[in-house]
Amino acid sequence: MPAVGGIPAGGSGKAYPGNLTLYVTVTCIVAAMGGLIFGYDIGISGGVTSMDSFLLKFFPSVYRKKHENESTNQYCQYDSQKLTMFTSSLYLAALLSSIVASTVTRRFGRKLSMLFGGVLFCSGAVINAAAKDVAMLIVGRMLLGFGIGFTNQSVPLYLSEMAPYKYRGALNIGFQLSITIGILVANVLNYFFAKIEGGWGWRLSLGGAMVPALIIAIGSLVLPDTPNSLIERGQNDEARAKLQRIRGLDDVQEELDDLVKASDASRQVEHPWRNLLQRKYRPQLCMAILIPFFQQLTGINVIMFYAPVLFDTIGFKSDAALMSAVITGLVNVGATVVSIYGVDKWGRRFLFLEGGVQMLICQIVVTAAIGAKFGVDGTPGELPKWYAIVVVLFICIYVSGFAWSWGPLGWLVPSEIFPLEIRSAAQSINVSVNMIFTFAVAQVFLTMLCHLKFGLFLFFAFFVLVMTIFIYFFLPETKNIPIEEMGRVWKSHWYWSRFVEEEDYPIGGLEMGKGGREVKEV
Ligand code: BGC
Repeated sequence: MPAVGGIPAGGSGKAYPGNLTLYVTVTCIVAAMGGLIFGYDIGISGGVTSMDSFLLKFFPSVYRKKHENESTNQYCQYDSQKLTMFTSSLYLAALLSSIVASTVTRRFGRKLSMLFGGVLFCSGAVINAAAKDVAMLIVGRMLLGFGIGFTNQSVPLYLSEMAPYKYRGALNIGFQLSITIGILVANVLNYFFAKIEGGWGWRLSLGGAMVPALIIAIGSLVLPDTPNSLIERGQNDEARAKLQRIRGLDDVQEELDDLVKASDASRQVEHPWRNLLQRKYRPQLCMAILIPFFQQLTGINVIMFYAPVLFDTIGFKSDAALMSAVITGLVNVGATVVSIYGVDKWGRRFLFLEGGVQMLICQIVVTAAIGAKFGVDGTPGELPKWYAIVVVLFICIYVSGFAWSWGPLGWLVPSEIFPLEIRSAAQSINVSVNMIFTFAVAQVFLTMLCHLKFGLFLFFAFFVLVMTIFIYFFLPETKNIPIEEMGRVWKSHWYWSRFVEEEDYPIGGLEMGKGGREVKEV
């Protein structure tokens, strides 16, 4: 592996020495597995809700509608508030727990939050596998949600703090990669479990969530703490030793000094939440809200949660529908690997912009294809094969556009732009906003499909256009900039510079600004 060195893009900043050691790589791979539980869950819910035996047991009215309506309006067959509540209850729970996780992560370290996440998720999986009624299903899903709130809050921060800054993008995207692997595994399992005689395969699908939960729970016990987190908790000697081990060097003084200074500044802050409202954090606060909002408004989860339902709706047989979900799952994993390769080379902005344009084009094509075939009354007649191939192909191109842009960057960029003193609180905002809008999309999608019909895809296309323009004008490039040095990207930005004063982020980094950053209480 090449040694890290040189001046980072953007000029006056620092370049800490340090290698991409085996130790840091293995550590980040283990931590990134925290994404598996999130992904597994995203993939599993769409699949079980298209299994007849599951619908018949828990949502008989949906089952009846689905089978009575075979020749009539396809758009509305799955429209049921109870069914969407099953899918989306988890996201409300995740939203609440990510706020609690902020304090745990800040006071007791990133690892403990990961452990809580794994344990809560595991108990939810047990209850779901044993479910006898809808209430049990929903309680189980809320526990899963509590688990996800903890892991999604802590894992991205953990990865961004551990990684040498030149490889931060690639290592952080390990989180998104395991989300996509989780989704894929869930889709494949659904495909096979749906075929089990006796129709109890859904219990295996839901119970299978225990496996990724145990992986992250056990993983969190063996992982080291990040140096930033050790310093934040006053353990400076351990932090030095850890940093030496992670970077594979004896001389880590410069980076350590900066971490200590960032932590001193952070300690003077008594109210991280209130602190976030200070003018100088306006750019970070806007990003913590807008990035997850836009990520969900790409419409990706329409595909992720409901791919089998969607393919079923547009006329594929149930089996072919599950199979198509496996195909989109594979594309999702493959395209994420592309972003791991490119994110620290081509930069975040390039991926965001390219991915946005690609998604936009596909959404327009899919709208036209579905509209032409179904019209507004939702009766397709016989579907020609070429038509099915075109729809699946463009959905795959759309998924790949998301998977190398908003998917990974929606987690990476927020986790790397927050200064230590607000990092944990700001990351909770990022997770909460993500969950609110994941919830909203999950909750209203089937109803929107029923009423907006194929126009639904244009609704998301509009937002993709807006977010791409937003990135072009407002997101500064963050590749190759050490995490505790990030302030300077705002200072040199045409718009955000008006919110930050010279002394907020001293030139050349923390050590040149006598006494580090000044932290004002509000
Ligand atoms: C998003 C999820 C989405 C997944 C798809 C993640 O980054 O947060 O909502 O389902 O990507 O791969």
